[in-house]
Amino acid sequence: MREGSHVIVLPFPGQGHITPMSQFCKRLASKGLQLTLVLVSDKPTPPYKTEHDSITVFPIPNGFQEGEEPLEDLDDYMERVETSIKNSLPKLIEDMKLSRNHPRALVYDSTMPWLLDVAHNHGLRGAVFFTQPWLVTAIYYHVFNGSFSVPPTKYGHSTLASFPSFPMLSANDLPSFLCESSSYPNILRIVVDQLSNIDRVDILLCNTFDKLEEKVLKWVQSLWPVLNIGPMVPSMFLDKRLSEDKSYGFSLFNAKVTECIDWLNSKQPNSVVYVSFGSLVILKEDQMMELAAGLKQTGRFFLWVVRETETDKIPSNFEEETGEKGLIVSWSPQLEVLAHKSIGCFLTHCGWNSMSEGLSLGVPMIGMPHWTDQPTNAKFMEDVWKVGVRVKAEGDGLVRREEIVRRVGEVMEGEKGKEIRKNAEKWKVLAQEAVSEGGSSDKSIDEFVSMF
Ligand code: UDX
Repeated sequence: MREGSHVIVLPFPGQGHITPMSQFCKRLASKGLQLTLVLVSDKPTPPYKTEHDSITVFPIPNGFQEGEEPLEDLDDYMERVETSIKNSLPKLIEDMKLSRNHPRALVYDSTMPWLLDVAHNHGLRGAVFFTQPWLVTAIYYHVFNGSFSVPPTKYGHSTLASFPSFPMLSANDLPSFLCESSSYPNILRIVVDQLSNIDRVDILLCNTFDKLEEKVLKWVQSLWPVLNIGPMVPSMFLDKRLSEDKSYGFSLFNAKVTECIDWLNSKQPNSVVYVSFGSLVILKEDQMMELAAGLKQTGRFFLWVVRETETDKIPSNFEEETGEKGLIVSWSPQLEVLAHKSIGCFLTHCGWNSMSEGLSLGVPMIGMPHWTDQPTNAKFMEDVWKVGVRVKAEGDGLVRREEIVRRVGEVMEGEKGKEIRKNAEKWKVLAQEAVSEGGSSDKSIDEFVSMF
């Protein structure tokens, strides 16, 4: 590799995207590449170097004025972000070329496929980065090509879908936007468009590892130049300044690190249910009530992340009633929590980062998927990797308290629980092998680095 080889990385502005892609920057920097991490922000600051000397963060505007509410209209948001990137990125690339720091490639988020042409027009190779597993991308591919037609509605519908190398999927296991296409037509278009120019992409990177998706990987590798580089589980956030800047969706600054860890330290091994629904999921009030009642009824210890905007949905006397049994925080240091010996299981919305973290740390899971790729992730978690169970919703879409109690019991005790724990341990070892020196993902990163 030539000294000073330089790559630009550009995630979609959301936590579930910035986290794995900035972790990828760290891995590349550790192998000698120079990185510019371009971050779309509502309050861009001047560029700065992170504690990794070879990574420069370059914030650019998201196209909104102060006081404007960006997320009111998704189409408008995507359009302004696209315009803003197209205004800033070409100049940035050309300036870099003039200063003899010629970038060789643009690693861009799969939700912004138009960045491939920006890369090619400026003489850079285009490497798309998928923050979702192949399982999900493969389904979108079939939808994009018209080789799979989407069932019209999710509820009361047991349509079975068959994909190469997949178990049979019911409508409930498909990415949500496919079955609820009329509720989210814009998001459906965005997720399916990820595949719109896939045959022209130079390199496909995915935050997964070879053994996890062995069968589907064979199929995707027969189509495209694929490198699996995950799981991208961050050891630490890239930079204190980045982690404190709320405009990137990071809230590590708010994470109750000491409070969570002190509380967990006082508990027995495998005794605590950790509950988190990531950075975006909004549960309906009646679902929050059922969840709260379910956690209380288990009689177990629980650590529950409830974002500040959601706290008014917790029943008013809940904290007094549960007392010592529970700790509710607005944000947790999730990796430290999952790695703690007192955690017995993880009740999760099945966001891909959370699932990768749970898998890498060998934590049995209870899947309560909400939308997007989460139902498909949950299906594989329960039926293929067998590291947990998925809650069943009633006909009205609500997961009742009794179901939560039943599933927590299933995972935390008995024969099934033992089996799940054994499988979780197996996948933990495989995930760690993949990212260790000489492992499949580590070799893929080496291969990527050797291209520049
Ligand atoms: C979404 C999708 O669900 C995901 O599959 C997609 O590919 C990226 O966008 P999100 O809903 O934010 O992501 O969930 P997830 O992918 O699980 O990411 C959440 C991240 O926040 C995780 O890395 C998790 O460790 C972190 N987190 C969450 C905390 O650090 N503390 C918390 O309290 C909660």
